[in-house]
Amino acid sequence: MKQLSLRIDYTEYDSIETLTTTDHELLDKAILACSSAYAPYSGFSVGAALRLANGKVILGNNQENSAYPSGLCAERVALFSASANYPGIPIEAIALTATTGRFVMNGPVTPCGACRQVLAEYENLHGSKIKIIMSSASGRVRIVEGTESLLPFLFHANELKK
Ligand code: THU
Repeated sequence: MKQLSLRIDYTEYDSIETLTTTDHELLDKAILACSSAYAPYSGFSVGAALRLANGKVILGNNQENSAYPSGLCAERVALFSASANYPGIPIEAIALTATTGRFVMNGPVTPCGACRQVLAEYENLHGSKIKIIMSSASGRVRIVEGTESLLPFLFHANELKK
């Protein structure tokens, strides 16, 4: 028997203003996307902006539905849109933000489990990590350099190969 542990590295910024220009610009786009989220049921609006290796920026925001499970998170709206419109182009980074008048947000918004799995799929497909920039209305920003930091022991397509 062995007792092991995993370490997760991430960076924290106290304000958006202290980010690098490229990260700041992407987060500004996520804030823009957040303002047009369709979230009448949860009252929790999320915006995502991802940057592709060809420089294109794709926006997404959460899209809810009166039949609740039919909605989709901002991250997957952006990721699926990128893969549908720019197949084969690696994703360099995704920025996220959220606003709500109904809940108290304690920190930067983080992708849900399903979105983490989808992020991992595209990392594996393109063979490159996706930087994840998570922010909150308070201005605090948390950054990880790849999905594995948010999803240790993630399920990989390699596990399905013969
Ligand atoms: N949501 C996202 O869009 N992304 C996240 O990272 C967390 C949750 C959405 C789903 C739903 O529309 C609302 O936020 C409340 O869960």
